[in-house]
Amino acid sequence: MGALESILTSPLGRRAAARAGLAEPPVLRRGRVLPEGPVLLADLPGGGVARATLAALGLPVAEPLLDLPENRAADERGRPQPPRYELRPGALVIDATGIREVAQLELLRQVLRPVMKRLADSGRVILLATDAATVDGVEARAVAQAMDGLMRTVGKELRGGATANLLWLAGGVGADDVGSTLAFLLEGRSAFVSGQAWRIRPRKPGDRAAPSGPAGASARPFEGRIVVVTGAARGIGAAIARTFRRDGAEIVAVDMPAAGESLAAVANGLRGSALQLDITVPDAGARIAAHVARVHGSDAKIWAIVHNAGITRDTMLANLDERRWASVLDVNLAAEMRINATLVDAALAGGLAENARIVGIASTSGWAGNKGQANYAASKAGVMGLVRAEADALAGRPITANAVAPGFIETDMTAAIPFVQREIFRRTNSLAQGGQPVDVAETLAYLCDPASGGVDGQVIRVCGQNIIGA
Ligand SMILES: NC(=O)c1ccc[n+]([C@@H]2O[C@H](COP(=O)([O-])OP(=O)(O)OC[C@H]3O[C@@H](n4cnc5c(N)ncnc54)[C@H](O)[C@@H]3O)[C@@H](O)[C@H]2O)c1
Repeated sequence: MGALESILTSPLGRRAAARAGLAEPPVLRRGRVLPEGPVLLADLPGGGVARATLAALGLPVAEPLLDLPENRAADERGRPQPPRYELRPGALVIDATGIREVAQLELLRQVLRPVMKRLADSGRVILLATDAATVDGVEARAVAQAMDGLMRTVGKELRGGATANLLWLAGGVGADDVGSTLAFLLEGRSAFVSGQAWRIRPRKPGDRAAPSGPAGASARPFEGRIVVVTGAARGIGAAIARTFRRDGAEIVAVDMPAAGESLAAVANGLRGSALQLDITVPDAGARIAAHVARVHGSDAKIWAIVHNAGITRDTMLANLDERRWASVLDVNLAAEMRINATLVDAALAGGLAENARIVGIASTSGWAGNKGQANYAASKAGVMGLVRAEADALAGRPITANAVAPGFIETDMTAAIPFVQREIFRRTNSLAQGGQPVDVAETLAYLCDPASGGVDGQVIRVCGQNIIGA
């Protein structure tokens, strides 16, 4: 711990930091835990999907209060105040999928205003809208996009670890397609996901996903399914392996031979198997498949592959030689592309299952760029392009490809950043703290859920609504 770090973390330092406006960050609700307090549903005209989805999840809903003149009461100085919730709501779900006119946006203001100061700690605002790319008419498209700026502002104004997110629904999306997403967003699994918008479309034919149970897909959605995690020996990869195992998966943990000891410890602790493999070798995909067939039998298939292994070789472009360039592009992007190309072969023993899940890890550096990370930012933006392209290329099969883009996550990698810079990275998001490896893992597990087949070609940032590239 550096000298400045010890001062700032001492009791006196904490008080000084608080006076300087650096309030203690809120403790976030995590895990498969629903919010405390009622779930409010604002089912706006033309909606209906959210109500059906929450009913299918077995979640009771309450009516929200509306900020209308007739509902306001005067305070002691005679000023009209919005209606006040006695019991703090745990979540507000707004179904705005039928909203097409600018004038109707007022309905969102009416339901949002009363909750802004009353939402429970780690509460949720979840907005459902029709995908702007799929509605006709100038006004309707403009209105659909308006939801995005509104949601992002709500995320920035909420306090106490509460989050706001937006789901763009394509036509024909039903409760079965949205269930796993609403459960994820309501539960603590989405603790560090805020200010994000992503798309949901109807699941492809052949996606035989189990319907969602109460509070999300059954608590062990990966029971009996094989999940391969690269870079699993430590950090985020180890957290991913633990989270998928908690949810029932048979883990195949992959990492460099040099990390063999910690890899074995992770795999053994989860009753999984370890595969020592440098993912950049040309036949890495074939070796993963061969391992799966050897350990689990020749009929076994991989349910999900989580491409987590990644490296940084930071330096300013002015100093960037071909070696640092090539190693980062190869580990972070090209290896993933080659492995997927091998594993999607339906005839390959130990390859991907018919409706498998492919997930990659991008980074907020890939959105915003980052000084000294030209190679890394290029590789991570490449991961976003890769999953979108794979989603398109595999459109005829019920396989999905998605990615998460973590912001500042507390790991060995980020512990090496100088303290002041680290503290700035931590604080510059709406939740005023760094994320935990488990936050990345939970989001990946949601994307790989058998009931998440309607989420395809999406990149979800796990960054607490970081201002960088937001
Ligand atoms: N920590 C963060 O804040 C953060 C932010 C954004 C993205 N990420 C990404 O998340 C992922 C995990 O990050 P982390 O912080 O846990 O990193 P880490 O360095 O702690 O772990 C990475 C693991 O990948 C393994 N690995 C590296 N090259 C490999 C190869 N060629 N073959 C097999 N295994 C290999 C390493 O041995 C290590 O165990 C990476 O893709 C990283 O770029 C991290």
